[in-house]
Amino acid sequence: MTAKAAKALFASLAVVMTLGATAILTSCDRKAPEDNAPMAIVAKTVDPHSYARPQEARVSHVDLDLTADFQTKTLAGTATLTLITEANAKQVILDTRALDIEAVTDASGSPLKFTLGKGNAMMGKPLTIELPQGAQKIVVKYKTTKDGTALQWLSPEQTAGKKLPFLFSQGEEIHTRTWIPTQDSPAIRQTYTARIVVPRDLMAVMSAERLTPEGEKVQGHANQRAYRFDMKEPVAPYLIAIAVGDLGFAPEGSRTGVYAEKATLAAAKAEFTDMQAMLEAAEKLYGPYRWGRYDVLVLPPSFPFGGMENPTLTFATPTILAGDKSLVSLIAHELAHSWSGNLVTNATWEDFWLNEGFTVYFEGRIMEEVYDKDRADMLRVLGWQDLQATLKDLNDSGKSDFTRLHPDLRNIDPDDYFSDVPYEKGAAFLRMLEAHFGRKKLDAYLKGYFQRFAFQSMTTDAFLVDLRTHLLHNDSDLEKQLKIRQWLYDKGMPDNAIPPTSEALNEVSAQVAAFMEGASAKSLSVQGYSSPQWQYFLTHLPDNLSPDQMADLDAVYGFSKSHNSEILFAWLQQAIKHQYQPALPAVREFLVSQGRRKYVVPLYKSLMAQPGWGVDMAKSVYAEARPGYHDVTRGTVDDIVK
Ligand code: BES
Ligand code: ZN
Repeated sequence: MTAKAAKALFASLAVVMTLGATAILTSCDRKAPEDNAPMAIVAKTVDPHSYARPQEARVSHVDLDLTADFQTKTLAGTATLTLITEANAKQVILDTRALDIEAVTDASGSPLKFTLGKGNAMMGKPLTIELPQGAQKIVVKYKTTKDGTALQWLSPEQTAGKKLPFLFSQGEEIHTRTWIPTQDSPAIRQTYTARIVVPRDLMAVMSAERLTPEGEKVQGHANQRAYRFDMKEPVAPYLIAIAVGDLGFAPEGSRTGVYAEKATLAAAKAEFTDMQAMLEAAEKLYGPYRWGRYDVLVLPPSFPFGGMENPTLTFATPTILAGDKSLVSLIAHELAHSWSGNLVTNATWEDFWLNEGFTVYFEGRIMEEVYDKDRADMLRVLGWQDLQATLKDLNDSGKSDFTRLHPDLRNIDPDDYFSDVPYEKGAAFLRMLEAHFGRKKLDAYLKGYFQRFAFQSMTTDAFLVDLRTHLLHNDSDLEKQLKIRQWLYDKGMPDNAIPPTSEALNEVSAQVAAFMEGASAKSLSVQGYSSPQWQYFLTHLPDNLSPDQMADLDAVYGFSKSHNSEILFAWLQQAIKHQYQPALPAVREFLVSQGRRKYVVPLYKSLMAQPGWGVDMAKSVYAEARPGYHDVTRGTVDDIVK
């Protein structure tokens, strides 16, 4: 963004903030004043997880010049921030946590006064920098430290290739401040550029246009290479991401491809052959893909999530490499975030459902387009099933506030709110709208929503205003009838939610019943079962199968050796519940060989629920596995295994 454009943007924001909706009618189809109200609402919203005061001075661009040192496990260098300041701004406040700030200067190198506030463990420390009159650029010289949570430095043994180390970042939700001193709020969108210096035998990638795929020489440092990146669209800071490793690249379609450790590249390429088709299906639904390329980076097994929608470059767990493309819905999900999440972004973490609920809905639609309705419906039923269990857990454990789509997260780590609620209740809300309005109208609304708010951040309140204008057409009776406010703001599930159904899964229930009544594993009619069918089968088994029945299932269907991580996980859960000894080595192996929180956490919980042997096993396995896990996973498991 040019300084002039930045000034204009700030001016328009200020106008929105002071004069409200009427001031910036930018396009001719916007007549009603309400049309502009959503962004006025967003501008007034306070992000409870950031110290920034963007009305006074906001970051609009970050330029990184960092060197990765795998010996000390630090990134060190400078972040040059471009600011948009109010006329008499005296200071800018950045978010930082666990950073070693060495100096702050203006663009010409003159030192600026700065102070690190007290802050707190969750949010880190506000970095307040005194601004000279009219300052537009500040340079922060800094190093990351061991206490940071965004970066994971892997030893060679923790990688697939075993020979070279690996580094990756995870910014969502509030970790970016532990590797970049910036205003770490999803409502403060920033373009970014970067130059990253790494050891010569490693490749750096980022969630941005990759300007130097081969890297460049570094003057005077023959053992290093530099990679440069450019993100020209303003993104939320949690979407700034980096990975460094022994990476290779394989193209898929003209706009899609896969990065992976060289040891994993062939498997990854074979698994992800439908990316371009997914991309085209998504564009057909909700408008053009706005980010140039769409590539997937397969990470080492300690990656704590299934996937992370870093712009232009989804980060994904290797646990979806099943060998038969059966788990690629995760790619559909992360791709969908290119619209819901990256293009239109939750303005605070209390609006997280705007990212995830929309994305689960959108994921289902992509799966229908690229595969078929049966497959999408099965996934919807599994999601609904998980949601019911989650709602029950949250209510039973006194956390019913977290059954809201819009929780109050003041003084609460956004990660504590993470559950199926924003995902599946959010998606159920959109499916309720779909059932009422029909796909044609809902799709037109969603496509319009992505267009109206492209490259902007959105709150739940602002979304409601937009929904009233463009879908409900200000019909307040209809709003009541559809229980819109109840959906968005209240606990639990409104009674007009529509449970998804699946023929294919109903058939599975019959097979489960037959097995419970004594049929042998071999006699079941399960030939050709897909992954969701097996998942449903395994999650619906009763708790009281005999060891013989468990052995029969495993002998016939080989669950303990499944290459499909979802099936293996569901089976291992049953094995623990049934104290089925022969599968316990597989439990251990699964827990030490990957660190995906979605699998690891429930398995440790199940073990801890078995007094004696289970608790002992949890402790001994965790002692072995913990060093290989990511901070995010450790943070959760530390509270379970003790
Ligand atoms: N954006 C999330 C991952 C995330 C959420 C990371 C909150 C940190 C904090 C990503 O899109 C996601 O939802 N991943 C899921 C898989 C998906 C198919 C439901 C996961 O990681 O399990
Ligand atoms: Zn998601």
